[in-house]
Amino acid sequence: MSSLTPANLSIRPRHMDFDLPNPLPRHWHSNDPFKTHFFNAMSVLFPDGERYFIESVRQFRDQVTDPALKEQIRGFIGQEGHHSREHVEYNNRLRDLGYDIDRLEITVKKRIRFVQKQFSAERQLAGTVAMEHFTAIMANAMLRDPQWIQGATPQLRQLWRWHALEETEHKAVAFDVYMQVCGDRSILRKAMRQATFFFLKDVTVGTWHMLRKDGALSVKTWCKGMYWLWGPQGFFSHLISDYRDFYKEDFHPWQHDNAQLMASVAEEFQGHPA
Ligand SMILES: [Fe+2]
Ligand SMILES: [Fe+2]
Repeated sequence: MSSLTPANLSIRPRHMDFDLPNPLPRHWHSNDPFKTHFFNAMSVLFPDGERYFIESVRQFRDQVTDPALKEQIRGFIGQEGHHSREHVEYNNRLRDLGYDIDRLEITVKKRIRFVQKQFSAERQLAGTVAMEHFTAIMANAMLRDPQWIQGATPQLRQLWRWHALEETEHKAVAFDVYMQVCGDRSILRKAMRQATFFFLKDVTVGTWHMLRKDGALSVKTWCKGMYWLWGPQGFFSHLISDYRDFYKEDFHPWQHDNAQLMASVAEEFQGHPA
């Protein structure tokens, strides 16, 4: 565990019941097809992705001796397990709306199988560290600036805020395990370049598929969506500096100190039993 990690950090899964609307409103985010399907496309990646994250950390669990980090690993596994389950439910609602979620998931499943078969355990963990940085910086942006999820159906808004909060709480766990058992920064940087490519590709393909299925895929919708992501005030544009920090030789996730923001959002979710 790094000295940068907040001293009183407690990583415990919250048992949530979002009672997602059934059927899910087709354009639950601000009645905007692009914003809705951008989040939906990320949701499609989570169940398999998070099971992979858990597995990649679990492989090194016995090598970790620091009791605080051991405890954090337990919390990390619990939180990711819950996220995975909630997103299965969410993705089933998307299936009910007629989207071909199976086809989107198969690409992810195949890639994960390939990585688990061909890559060393250290490289598998490096992939998790890279993706955890991605989720952490997106989570921070969503919690810091509510506009990104404003206008969403309340249950979906809560689900994404809950997920963002817990991604922030456990953002350094895979990193700290990796630094203890391997520590090679060049592998991390390579993993980040690959993770970036595949994440952007998967989210683009998923968004495209769902827009097309709705009959909402047009040059105008796509360009407006790209501007929302990559324009001067875009969601991704805001993340570039935080993203780049990952490539620094002394980077640690808690150098982005958002502990106060995390604590204030955690108050919203008090009362949910761990
Ligand atoms: Fe998660
Ligand atoms: Fe995570």
